[in-house]
This record gives sequence, C-alpha cells and structure tokens, in this order.
Amino acid sequence: QADAPATNAVAGDKISRVGVIGAGQMGAGIAEVCARAHVDVLVFEQTRELAAAGRARILRSLDRGVSSGKITEREREQAAWRLRFTSDLGDFADRQLVVEAVLEDEKVKTAIFAELDQIVTDPKAVLASNTSSIPIMKLGMATKHSERVVGMHFFNPVPVLPLVELVTTLMTSTEVSVRAEAFARDVLGKQVVRSADRSGFVVNALLVPYLLSAIRMVESGFATVEDIDKAIVLGLAHPMGPLALSDLVGLDTIKAIADSMYEEFKEPLYSPPPLLLRMVEAGRVGKKTGHGFYQYP
Ligand code: CAA
Ligand code: NAD
Repeated sequence: QADAPATNAVAGDKISRVGVIGAGQMGAGIAEVCARAHVDVLVFEQTRELAAAGRARILRSLDRGVSSGKITEREREQAAWRLRFTSDLGDFADRQLVVEAVLEDEKVKTAIFAELDQIVTDPKAVLASNTSSIPIMKLGMATKHSERVVGMHFFNPVPVLPLVELVTTLMTSTEVSVRAEAFARDVLGKQVVRSADRSGFVVNALLVPYLLSAIRMVESGFATVEDIDKAIVLGLAHPMGPLALSDLVGLDTIKAIADSMYEEFKEPLYSPPPLLLRMVEAGRVGKKTGHGFYQYP
C-alpha cells in the first residue's frame, strides 16, 4: 500500500515555523491551534481585507477559548502575537511546514503547490494540504519534489475536534510523513489516523454519502430538515444532525467533495443531488453565508 510505515521517531528538527494558506474557517482554525501550541505562524490571504477578516475570526475563536475556560487571557494574548499575515506567498521561504487550506478546487490547489515548491527550498520542509477529498498525489505531482507533499486533514471546528488524518502518497518520503505526524501529535496534541490516498480519505468516504442521503431525503419530501436532524441527534446521540452539519461544513465544499469522490469512484452514492446544486448556485451555502438549510443571524 502507498502509505509509509508508522513510526514514533521524530525526524529532523522540530517544526517551529508554520505557514497556513487561506484564513477561511479551516485555515483560521489551523493557524489558531498552531499559535496556541507556541508555533510561529504566517498566514497567507489573497487580500488585506480577507486577512483582516481571517485575523478577526481567529481572535473571536480565541475569545471563545477564554470564555469557555480552555485557555487563559495570557495564552490568548501570546497566541495572537504569534500570528502574522501576508498577501505575498514569497514570504513563506523560511517555513518548515506549510498547510494549504484554500477552497476545495483542484486547479487552484495545484497552482499553489507549484508556486510553493519554488518558494520553499528546504528539502526537509513539509508541504501539506488540508483538502477534504482531492487525491494528494495530484498536488504532489504539481511540484518537482513530491516526496515533501502530504495530506494533513483537520476537522471543523479545528480547536475542538482532536483528529488529523495523515495521507501519504506513493511519492511521500518516510521522513516527511514522520515529521508531519510528530507535529500533529506532539506539538498540536492531535490524534492521528492514517489513510490511503483515496478521494475522501477515511472520514469523508463515510460521512459524505450520509450527508448526501439526508439531502436526498429533504429533496424527496421524506421528512423535514428539522425532523431529520432531530432524529439523528436524539436517536443516535450525534452532536448535530446531517443538515446542520452540512451547513457548518459549507454546501459549496460538500458539492466539491462529492464531485471529486464521484470522479474517483463513479459511484451514484457520491453524486451530488440537484437540491445541493441549486442551493450552491443560489449562494445558500450554509453558516458562512448566513443561509443554508437553516438561517443564521
Ligand atoms: N477553543 C477551544 N474550545 C472551544 C472553542 C474554541 N474556540 N469553541 C468551543 N470550544 C469547546 C467548548 O468549550 C466546549 O467544550 P466542553 O464540551 O469541554 O464544554 C466544546 O468545544 C463544545 O462547544 P460549545 O458547547 O460552545 O458548542 P456545542 O456544544 O454547540 O458544539 C460543535 C458545537 C463543537 C460544533 C458540536 O456541535 C460538534 O462537534 N458538531 C459536529 C462537528 C463535526 O462533525 N465536524 C466534522 C465536520 S467534517 C470535517 O470537518 C471534514 C471535512 O473535510 C468536511
Ligand atoms: P472557506 O470557504 O471558509 O475558505 C476558503 C479559503 O480559500 C479562503 O481563505 C479564501 O480566501 C481562499 N480562496 C478562495 N479562492 C481562492 C483562490 N482562487 N486562491 C487562493 N485562495 C482562495 O473554506 P474552508 O471550509 O476553510 O475549506 C478550506 C479547505 O479545507 C478546503 O479544501 C476544504 O475541503 C477543507 N476542509 C473543510 C472542512 C470544513 O468543514 N469546511 C473540513 C476539513 C477540510
């Protein structure tokens, strides 16, 4: 199998300088947990306005960490100091680990990996993607050093959910996969599972058909949005139902994940239902735009 052998050894220097590309929900969360773990974090956003919005998002989450007793005021302040923003990817030259977290679009991601490969020249640097579904090999092959490329798949909300899926390809070096795993586990305190480089990896291969089935239920009038969610929360003790969860993830992202899983496996269960397509076309993509299956203030 493509995956490199698991090992507890930490290869090479400890990672203390991280770059995060994108400060949307996931990029902001990844930058936040790195800063909270005493790591120097540089975040790329396309414009100053988006960078300001990303910083505000992180500060709000740090405030939530304080109000829920997870971190102290001092820890919040120190984490905020460790975060810097840039709109020039060229500033990433000294990064030891870069986590890409831009929208789920293969063309955009491959262009970023090709550019990053030229900028980050340290052969030990780890170039990671937080993609939900795009095979990591496609991103690795956009670079000249595919041995440095891995998937590090975090879960939303990143400060709360303890999992990282580590995805290595046929080309990823053992040293790089060991460094990435050690960083997620020992520095960020996450738990790591390994997945083969298959679209959707472990979690989304199971989650996305379930979310799409719930959307098909709404589409066919089988049950209401509220009753489907209530049934799952009360009947299966999930923290939220599938339609609230779809809104949280983002319907645009779910459509993109479904498209890439369908492209890989050609299974009808991964094919995005028309209701999902229409909602994305209408811009009703969930919590981040204030309207999806539910409305958000
Ligand atoms: N920093 C630190 N801790 C925080 C925090 C922050 N910014 N925000 C919240 N928390 C903590 C709270 O203190 C609380 O901790 P305790 O349980 O110890 O009290 C816990 O997180 C829950 O927070 P809240 O009580 O404020 O919120 P909630 O109970 O309504 O839960 C939720 C919200 C965490 C989102 C929960 O509903 C949940 O876990 N939902 C499921 C989320 C899920 O399945 N995510 C995966 C999506 S799939 C994915 O990510 C992969 C992909 O590729 C699409
Ligand atoms: P989001 O919509 O919140 O943020 C998207 C980010 O991409 C923003 O920073 C935006 O500025 C940037 N972006 C958009 N177009 C761009 C372009 N042309 N060039 C460069 N940057 C661009 O999305 P998100 O939920 O943070 O998802 C980001 C990644 O994380 C995706 O690959 C997604 O599949 C993955 N992911 C999402 C979740 C989730 O629950 N939402 C969970 C795990 C992984």
